[in-house]
Amino acid sequence: MVITKICCIGAGYVGGPTCSVIALKCPNIRVTVVDLSVERISQWNSDKLPIYEPGLDDVVKKCRNINLFFSNDIETAIDEAELIFISVNTPTKTFGNGRGRAADLKYVESAARMIAKVARSNKIVVEKSTVPVRAAESIMHILGANQKMDVKYEILSNPEFLAEGTAIDDLLNADRILIGGECTETGSNAIEELSWVYQHWIPKERILTTNTWSSELSKLAANAFLAQRISSINSLSAVCEATGADVTEVAKAVGLDSRIGSKFLQASIGFGGSCFQKDILNLVYICEGLNLPEVAAYWQQVIDMNEYQKMRFSQKIIECLFNTVSDKRITIFGFAFKKNTGDTRETPAITVCKTLLEEGAKLNIYDPKVDHQQILEDLTHPSVTDSPEYVRKAIDIFDNAYDAVKDTYAIVLCTEWDEFVELDYRAIYSKMMKPAYIFDGRKILKHKELQEIGFHVQTIGRKLNRTGLLRSWATQQ
Ligand code: NAD
Ligand code: UGA
Repeated sequence: MVITKICCIGAGYVGGPTCSVIALKCPNIRVTVVDLSVERISQWNSDKLPIYEPGLDDVVKKCRNINLFFSNDIETAIDEAELIFISVNTPTKTFGNGRGRAADLKYVESAARMIAKVARSNKIVVEKSTVPVRAAESIMHILGANQKMDVKYEILSNPEFLAEGTAIDDLLNADRILIGGECTETGSNAIEELSWVYQHWIPKERILTTNTWSSELSKLAANAFLAQRISSINSLSAVCEATGADVTEVAKAVGLDSRIGSKFLQASIGFGGSCFQKDILNLVYICEGLNLPEVAAYWQQVIDMNEYQKMRFSQKIIECLFNTVSDKRITIFGFAFKKNTGDTRETPAITVCKTLLEEGAKLNIYDPKVDHQQILEDLTHPSVTDSPEYVRKAIDIFDNAYDAVKDTYAIVLCTEWDEFVELDYRAIYSKMMKPAYIFDGRKILKHKELQEIGFHVQTIGRKLNRTGLLRSWATQQ
């Protein structure tokens, strides 16, 4: 089979960027990204794409309506394609068995059923969504049970490793492409076909092929390992604050060991994003189901440490502001779960805002890329408040940092946007209530300069004296 047409079901953070890059690098393949959401598809076809991702606009502009199409006509795209990516969401279940832990596979199942209904020719179906181990078996079962006489399917696992904010670079220069499939002749052929697509720009030696279950588990494992590093350094940030060690120095010293490496050792207010928590909870659930309670408990601790870190930071704000934030106005800098994205899924900023709102604070919120409506929806969600009206009155959302600081008692930096480093903090200080506090949840600001202006500075993983001034090595002697 020669791949001339690809269909991708799910036009989200993965389906959109991944297929845009495939279209860019494979001009002879016609790529159609489909979605149930009419609004999302019309945004993909507009000048304002539904997601903010550096470099994405350029890639889409180069290919859209040439060999890259966004459509709600799911059936036609499936019918025409030889290869179909399933890139739908796999959120944590919010009901029934496995609630709060297992992955909800209803969107994967509905995509599989749609393929089974429509397909009239042989298809390679590629699981790109992150799924539990052996999910491919369920997809095969659905397709097999609805098989039309002469249609044959091959199921591959091809998990995605891109990170938001760097997605285009991650896709163009992937560390590895992982393809899992069946060890049969037709399975090997399907692996070759998908591998051929990637070989348009990825060197062959970086394309790793495994059996299907290894591929599915490797994706969960990679996210679990990454998150584990963050929880590890965050756990040590608490030790640093209690002892006088500096977590940046510790991370550097540890990371210089080539066996450990320096990446993903940035202490923070905790990790966010749509996947780390979801995928580890899923891993924990799988381990429990396999009667491996010790393994489940081991990975659960990565999540528990992250919760602890988010709460620890929120509590520190309250303690420093004389144990009461009631009716105090506080500025939140950054709401996205990391810089260079407008995504707020599982952002630690929600935990911080929720805690402060519960204590009676009023919030001025500013993020360079997150829509105002999204912030409102997140903070009035039933999981955050049972009084959405109260929250609506207690928060104001701003279009720039300077307006957001007027008459506030503190700035809480939740996202490491570059622009926060270069603001005119002297001007900001003059607009704030005194004493003025800064809580740097990302360790990106110039703390010494801020102190010289007059700010009381608190950060992660560094011991502070009572007034919140950073103790330098010299003053501790
Ligand atoms: P998303 O919510 O942004 O997008 C999923 C899209 O699928 C939505 O637009 C939804 O409308 C659509 N959809 C759902 N069911 C459908 C159906 N039956 N037919 C057509 N469209 C349907 O999700 P995402 O962030 O792109 O994540 C997708 C998957 O990729 C998840 O399994 C996630 O774990 C994994 N993943 C995500 C990232 C990331 O950075 N976001 C990275 C790697 C892997
Ligand atoms: C993560 C993985 O990095 C991707 O490989 C994976 O494909 C993706 O999840 C997924 O499966 O969805 P993403 O969540 O987009 O990507 O972003 P990361 O850069 O991993 O950051 C996740 C969170 O960890 C952010 O809140 C970030 O601020 C935080 N983080 C990251 C730290 O607190 N410290 C660090 O050192 C690194």
